Amino acid sequence: MSGFPTLRVPILAAPMAGGPSTPALVSAMAEAGGLGFLAAGYLPVAALAEQVAAVRTAGTDLFGVNLFVPDTEPIDLPAVLAYREALLPLAAELGLDGLPEPYPDDDGWAAKVDLLVDQPVPIVSFTFGLPDRTTVERLHGVDTLLVATVTSTADARAAVEAGMDGLVVQGPGAGGHQGTWHTSDPAPSLPLDDLLAQVLAEVDVPVVAAGGLATADDVHRVVSAGAAGAQLGTAFLLTPEAGTNPTYRAALTHPGFGPTRMTRAFSGRWARSLDNAFIATYDALAPASYPAINQVTGPIRRAAAAAGDAQHLHLWAGTGVEHVREASAAEVVAQLWPDARE
Ligand SMILES: Cc1cc2nc3c(=O)[nH]c(=O)nc-3n(C[C@H](O)[C@H](O)[C@H](O)COP(=O)(O)O)c2cc1C
Repeated sequence: MSGFPTLRVPILAAPMAGGPSTPALVSAMAEAGGLGFLAAGYLPVAALAEQVAAVRTAGTDLFGVNLFVPDTEPIDLPAVLAYREALLPLAAELGLDGLPEPYPDDDGWAAKVDLLVDQPVPIVSFTFGLPDRTTVERLHGVDTLLVATVTSTADARAAVEAGMDGLVVQGPGAGGHQGTWHTSDPAPSLPLDDLLAQVLAEVDVPVVAAGGLATADDVHRVVSAGAAGAQLGTAFLLTPEAGTNPTYRAALTHPGFGPTRMTRAFSGRWARSLDNAFIATYDALAPASYPAINQVTGPIRRAAAAAGDAQHLHLWAGTGVEHVREASAAEVVAQLWPDARE
């Protein structure tokens, strides 16, 4: 693509790995004048290829694919194994026969990059780090725009130096994982509006704002401040187009959940979730090891989701979760950007 796209509606549906992002959501966003992302994280490369094909078959030309940049920090194996041990009684209660030990996993990085070079898409975004130079060159070589998620001004500068064409500035109110570049980084705390202002003063590429945005006023505020768009995840979780699992869907509007909380308990990386019994019990014990902790807790989270047990499942949600309602993606876009109706 030549140049960052000018969207009719400056609303982006965030990539949401683990089910919520679907080809249907991506196509609905494009039809509404915004932009959607497929989430390649956790997906086998063949499934990603199918999703890209489905978006194209639906006639959607403008969309993005989001990749997890592999973590290079060594894991603290004794701490991970101790955490696994602490989780075994819960696993047994959920009917599981043990829990896995950690194993090497780079989320199929090379195969996913190869796919996106062979079958180019308009935009590729990255979280958890920056792509290596060769990957930047290969993807630019097939005319793909590259976007990095940043959680600090230093990251923003480094991303632009590495050749990123745009940035997603993610504030600490974001649902799901924080896109920090090192698992052991402290949880970011600078409010989105402050981070956005700092980054806009430093870089010349388009900057999209994300994290805790939930209303038309929120979107208006970040766009007025200079953002090229607002990227929202939580706001789209209850759309029929999203693949949010039923247990998670029910929890999002259940009055029993209080404020959201940032925790490493589910994956080893900082992530914001509705607060539940799992976090209350295990947050203090969880080591900063990704994807090791994600692997260890995976069977518990899957069993809890299947059993309708929202207390032992990650329930990613941003600080604006109280505004989330069941509505189609087009309706959510129209609420967030009232001019979209025109
Ligand atoms: C369920 C869920 C899954 C997410 N998965 C990803 C992902 O795969 N890649 C990514 O870059 N960000 C991911 N995020 C973070 C979003 O990109 C975005 O920063 C966040 O949703 C913005 O905050 P909000 O949820 O308050 O709108 C996820 C967020 C949620 C809620």
